[in-house]
Formats: sequence, C-alpha cells, structure tokens
Amino acid sequence: MPDTLTHFINGESVTAGNTCESVNPSNLDDVVAHYPKGGEAEVNEAVKAARAAFPAWSEASPEVRSDVLDRAGTIIMSRAKELGTLLSREEGKTLAEGTGEVMRAARILKYFAGEALRRHGQTLESTRPAVDAATYREAVGVFGLITPWNFPIAIPAWKSAPALAFGNTVVLKPATPTPAIAHALTSILIEAGAPPGVFNLVIGGGDVGRAIVNHPDIDGLSFTGSQGVGASVAEGAAKRQARVQLEMGGKNPLVVLDDADLDRAVMCAIDGAFFSTGQRCTASSRIIVTEGIHDRFVQAMAEKAKSLRVGDALDPNTQIGPAVSEDQLEQNLRYVRIAREEGGKVLTGGEEPLKLDKRGYYMAPTVIADTAPEQTINCEEVFGPVASTVKVKNYDEALEIANRGQFGLSAGIVTNSLKYSRDFRRRVRAGMVMVNLPTAGVDYHVPFGGTRKSSYGAREQGFAAVEFYTQTKTVYTWS
Ligand code: UN1
Repeated sequence: MPDTLTHFINGESVTAGNTCESVNPSNLDDVVAHYPKGGEAEVNEAVKAARAAFPAWSEASPEVRSDVLDRAGTIIMSRAKELGTLLSREEGKTLAEGTGEVMRAARILKYFAGEALRRHGQTLESTRPAVDAATYREAVGVFGLITPWNFPIAIPAWKSAPALAFGNTVVLKPATPTPAIAHALTSILIEAGAPPGVFNLVIGGGDVGRAIVNHPDIDGLSFTGSQGVGASVAEGAAKRQARVQLEMGGKNPLVVLDDADLDRAVMCAIDGAFFSTGQRCTASSRIIVTEGIHDRFVQAMAEKAKSLRVGDALDPNTQIGPAVSEDQLEQNLRYVRIAREEGGKVLTGGEEPLKLDKRGYYMAPTVIADTAPEQTINCEEVFGPVASTVKVKNYDEALEIANRGQFGLSAGIVTNSLKYSRDFRRRVRAGMVMVNLPTAGVDYHVPFGGTRKSSYGAREQGFAAVEFYTQTKTVYTWS
C-alpha cells in the first residue's frame, strides 16, 4: 500500500499541490508513496512559521532542544527495521544499508542532543586594562535545507540535528525520488516534541528549492547534491548575503600500491565503488594501481565484482540494489559506453541494463580497465556502480593523477608503507583521506567535507557543525 504524504507546516499536515508518486526502483509496479508537489506558496508559509517559532526555540534551555533530539533518536532506533525497509523500498539501497542508515540518523540526532549543551564560547583577556573580552555562539535564525536522495534520512538528520540543537528553526526540502523517509523523520521530530514551526517540511521539485534559496527570510542554506545545482544555490545565497554550505560531487581516487594486502585492496575497492549501488559522493571511482600489483589486483577486483548479487533491495540476499531512477540508470550506462569508446576495457558489467524477474533499474557492477587519466570516465562523476582503473609506474605518478580534476572530496590509499601513507595523507588534495579503508563510509562525530569543487563553505557534521549553525558575538565588558 502506498503511503500518503503531506507537507508539514507549523506542526500541521498540509496537502497542497498536485499529487505525484514515488516508485520503488527495485519494482516499478510498486508505488511507495503519493506526495503533494508544493511550490512557492508552501515555502512562504513554512518560512513564516519557522520565523515565528525562532525566538522561543532559540531562547529555550538547551535541555529542551537536547531532549527533542534524544527522543527523536530513540523513536527512530525503536522503528529501525520498519524505517529501513521504507528507505530501501524507496531509494533502492539494500535492506542492510537502509537499516544501517536509519540507525546512523538516530545516532546523529543523539550526538547532537549532547552538542546542544556544548554551544561554547571563549573568554580572553582584552588588550585594555579592566576590560574583559568574550565570545558567544548564537543561533542564526531560519535554515533552508535541501537534501539528496542517496542518503535520504542520514543527510536530512545531519543537517537538521545541529540546526535544531543550536537553536535554529528549519525548512527542509527532500529530494523528489525519496520524500517518504523525510516525511517520517519530520513526523518523528514533531512526535518527539519539536514545537509547531520549529521543523517544517515542504515536498516538491526545483520550484521549492528555488523558493527556499531566494527567500529573504531564510538566513542560511545547506545543500547536498550536484555541482551544477550547488553553484546556483551559492549564487542565490551570495546575492542576498545568506550563509551557505554546499556538499557536491566527487571523483574519488583509491590508490593501490605494490605492497598492499591484496584482499584488503579488493575489499576497499569493492565497498567504495559498488556498495549503495555506487550512489555516494564519496564512492571510489578512479582506482589507481601501481604496475607491480596491477594485473593481480584488477583481475581479483573484476572477479569479486562479477560475483556480487544484484537484485531487489528488499531481498536479504541482495548485495547491490538498483539505480534510483531511469535517468540515473541511463546516465550510468552512457558513461560505460563512453569509456569503452574512449579505449577502456570493460572487464565485467557493461552498458546494457540487467533484466531480472522484477521490472527495476538494474545494472551489473562494472569495472573498466586500462583507462587513461584524462578520459571522460576519470573526470566526470557517474554516481553509479562503475569503477575505472588506471595503471601507473609508481607512487609519485599515482599521487599526481589522484590530484587531478575538479573535485577533492575523499581519497584513499591501500599500502603497508608508513612512508607513502604519511606522504599521501599530507599531499593528496581532498577533504577526507582514508588509509587502508574505502573512500566512502564516514563517522558522524568528525568533520565531513572536501576541497575545490566538492564542497563550499563550512564543514558539516561532528564538532565542526557548530561553525555553520551558529554565529559569533564578541562582547567587551569594562568594570
Ligand atoms: C558516506 O560515505 O558515508 O552524498 C557518506 C553523499 C555524501 C555522504 C557520504 N554526502 O554521498
């Protein structure tokens, strides 16, 4: 049975706008939810409610905000199986991944329940006698959060939780393919005690996003999604001097050196490239391999990729779910074709969709060997289960190639060499570096973000989140 979703404005369910469907990408005959497609009018109402709720929420005891987040985390944990199933049914990641993501969202909420009590300031000596200088961190106001479909509860949670913890109010716009889990998160926050207007949800497409970006009463914008949309969010924000934070694409390199443990290297590459169907901005997509281990590694990786079971996300035996949508599947297959035409050797997978017994957006995990660093497949983000390999002579060449391109989100190296791992940690141009680990899969209590075209503005998550979701006041006192 499909769920019937609504917007949430000022604590109330609101049905406005044409009704649309979200569909299960593992089984196109299964409609997951009917949702209303909102527009500017709903954004205006939501912002009005968020603004009205701001004074009382920001001035409440931090314990009030902490309790709401903690309770929401507890509710999510107690419903993890049901919510994980809903997430996997709507987004297409496996049940283990969907339930894992739900638990991660719960833990993020609980972590920020603690952070609510740690909104810290500093006291300093003034340069002048009898004067004290101090800083306070204050709530900013109303935040507009625009979130992607690939982590449809974890990313809304990791933007909302710090926004709320530090006293801000929120208008959330979830991605159109995955409104159901965002709807569940919102109703749980309200059930957990978020007062009317503190957390608002407006479901819809680009119109809703634009209305949020351009609304004069939204003080801050946090966006995760594509590079192109991110650039227009930043432009809109700059025009009206709103604070802005963007998390965008990646073309993350995984370097495998001759001295690597082969099994570890294959595990890192397979997890990083294919888990969550490769639909992670942190996915390992360029596997850069030194020549001494190259042939053994590429063969082992291709064999492992071939053995992965692709299927319905809700089948517990499935290891790789479908692409989220037809557009995404077509984009993935197109990139495989381009890679082949430009000289890459498709070792496993390929440019045809997989036909399974259910109608879904399936493709086989694809490994493309013998690619050159400047080929399209090594420059543009695919966002699917597609990895290319590049053969290099030595570490220096690997590092130089890893550092090419417009992105710099995550970078990994598999090696037992202290010397090379240390050098890589320091010299690779990326916001996150993984040693003997996949490039994807991050903790929630440490900063998340990249360099160059991958990220813009303050870091997300962990102790860094306070930077974006508060503003500093400096106070001088003479007595
Ligand atoms: C992860 O690798 O655990 O959209 C998280 C994304 C990232 C999150 C990745 N913002 O894929």
